[in-house]
Parts: sequence; C-alpha cells; structure tokens
Amino acid sequence: MRRRLHGYRGERIVVTYDAKRCIHARECVRGLPEVFDPGRRPWVNPGAADADAVAAVIARCPTGALHFERRDGGPAEAPPGANVVTVAADGPLYLRGDLRLVSPAGEVVLSDTRLALCRCGASADKPFCDGRHEAAGFRDPGRPPPAAAPAAGAGAGPLRVTPSANGPLLLSGPFELRGADGGACFAGEEAALCRCGASADKPFCDGSHRRIGFTAP
Ligand code: SF4
Ligand code: FES
Repeated sequence: MRRRLHGYRGERIVVTYDAKRCIHARECVRGLPEVFDPGRRPWVNPGAADADAVAAVIARCPTGALHFERRDGGPAEAPPGANVVTVAADGPLYLRGDLRLVSPAGEVVLSDTRLALCRCGASADKPFCDGRHEAAGFRDPGRPPPAAAPAAGAGAGPLRVTPSANGPLLLSGPFELRGADGGACFAGEEAALCRCGASADKPFCDGSHRRIGFTAP
C-alpha cells in the first residue's frame, strides 16, 4: 500500500506523518504542544522534547497517522498484548494491536499497531477514516447489541482485517470488541463489521450493503 508520508528528522528520533490518516483527534497536540504545533511550519519538531516522551505521545495517536523510528537505540513501538477494536460513537472503528490490513486477494498491504477504519461509508480514503462521518451526519452510539456474547478475553496473535469488495470488514484472529464507553462486550476470532453505515445491527454487518448498493474497493 503506497502512502505519502511526511518525515521529520530529529537527532534521536524520526517522526513520520500520513496526513490523510489524521482526523485531528489532537492527542499529539495536547500531549506535547512544543513538538506538535499545527500553526508552525514544519508542524513537527522532534527535537523539542525527550525522545521517549515523543514516542509515548505518538503511540497514543489513535489513527496511526503518526509513527516514529528511534535513532538513539531506544525501543520501537511494541504492539499491545491484545487486539482491541473500539466502536466510536458517531465515528470510526479504532483498532489497536498486532494488526494486518489484508487485500481481498489475501496479501498483507499494511502492518500497524493502530488503525482508524471507516464505518459510515463516506470516507474518500477507504478503508481508513478521513473524518467525513461528521459532514455525513453519521449517527450510531457505538453500543454493540446486548445479544453479543460476553467478552472472555482475547487470545494472542495477529488480527487480520480484510475490507471485502463492496462489503464489510472481515476480521480474522483474536480480538476484543469494545463499545464507545470502553466496556468489553465481545471476544472472538471471526467477525464481519459494517463499513457501509447502513446495518441495523451495528457494528456487525447485516447484509444491508447489498440493498444500498455500497461500493468500495
Ligand atoms: S494524534 Fe494522530 S490523528 Fe490525532 S491530530 Fe495527532 S496525528 Fe492527527
Ligand atoms: S457492510 Fe454495512 S451492512 Fe454489510
């Protein structure tokens, strides 16, 4: 998957930024305003804070727009111990863990620890969220249905995420599903999650994508 990345080089750490994956959650700006300042050019100054602090704030970026590479022998970002999918209220699916984005042909196109994936159907950068859920007026409280099985804790291993052509996101691998309030509601190894915005059973796919003629690569 070819993405246009901006690079910001400090003596101890290099920061990369994928502007199209940034939905302005502002974790970075709130966390280290001396490093991340959207009103300045360049907006990232990696040398303005300790490299460990820069790395820690980048690891909080929920979309994966920011990443880093240490030049001082410091540790790389480690994936969290479990794969977690959080359904945001009126917003995307936030994924954290050992993540593999896979093409419908089965090829891994991106490995990451953080992803924000569109579930309203309006993003122009699918499968990523580009923030258009707001303009599209997408509404869903992010409360998985009570029928979902109770969480029993996810196992270990990578989570493969396949955006199926004109259909849902197919999850394969251990994961825990959490509602917008952070409460765990489902742990499993397989799921089809709606990415067209039309399911009556959100966050799961109920086949409505066919009825509305959803198209997405
Ligand atoms: S934390 Fe990530 S998504 Fe949020 S503003 Fe910074 S770069 Fe953008
Ligand atoms: S992708 Fe939305 S109902 Fe299937």
